[in-house]
Amino acid sequence: MINFKEEKNITIFEHPLIQHKISILRDKETGTNEFRKLVEEIAMLEGFEAMGDLELEDVEIETPIEKCMTPMISGRKLAVVPILRAGLGMVSGILALVPTAKVGHIGMYRDEETHEPHEYYCKLPSPIEERLIIVTDPMLATGGSAVDAIDQIKKHGGKKIKFMCIIAAPEGLEKLHKAHPDVQIYVGHLDRQLNENAYICPGLGDAGDRIFGTK
Ligand code: PRP
Ligand code: URA
Repeated sequence: MINFKEEKNITIFEHPLIQHKISILRDKETGTNEFRKLVEEIAMLEGFEAMGDLELEDVEIETPIEKCMTPMISGRKLAVVPILRAGLGMVSGILALVPTAKVGHIGMYRDEETHEPHEYYCKLPSPIEERLIIVTDPMLATGGSAVDAIDQIKKHGGKKIKFMCIIAAPEGLEKLHKAHPDVQIYVGHLDRQLNENAYICPGLGDAGDRIFGTK
């Protein structure tokens, strides 16, 4: 097993605010409304770090004192790509930081028996080649959905890709890192293991159902 803490392309957050919010997410008594808000807030906190290397360009601004050239982020530089459904819950947190980012969507569901991912939708902003692409999904379990989603993005020409999740299992983190070693992976908390149904332990249950209030 890889020593995740030593991998330069893996960031496992330790920030107390992120850890605190994840603990509330885990609680089975946390309702849909609060769950959604927390997912958004954690995405914003993780996004602050993940976008630390966004390119800036100088633009002219006139202050009350004088004109000056000053650095700004161009919306053309960023695309957020949630893995449906649960990844959608993280998008608003990133858009709160960069409102002009474009949003793509990749639809994936896990077969309940085999746990294999199945793609049912893919629509990405064009052109994609030059953008920083942040793929979001709160749960990295076996890693199958994330690996396939990033395969798709690369087939469409995506080059600079980051993956952001809230909870990861060691099995999924290793699989994703081995399949896409060039992708920087951000993890809110690394959990113990998967259970026999490929759910993360202790985890938080089914993230999609908890965000959307289904089941
Ligand atoms: C969940 C989760 C991930 C996937 C993780 O989605 O949001 O996309 O499972 O599992 P993996 O790492 O083993 O592939 P799910 O398929 O339940 O769909 P949903 O988001 O529509 O609920
Ligand atoms: N998907 C989830 O939503 N939760 C898990 O624990 C595993 C996959």
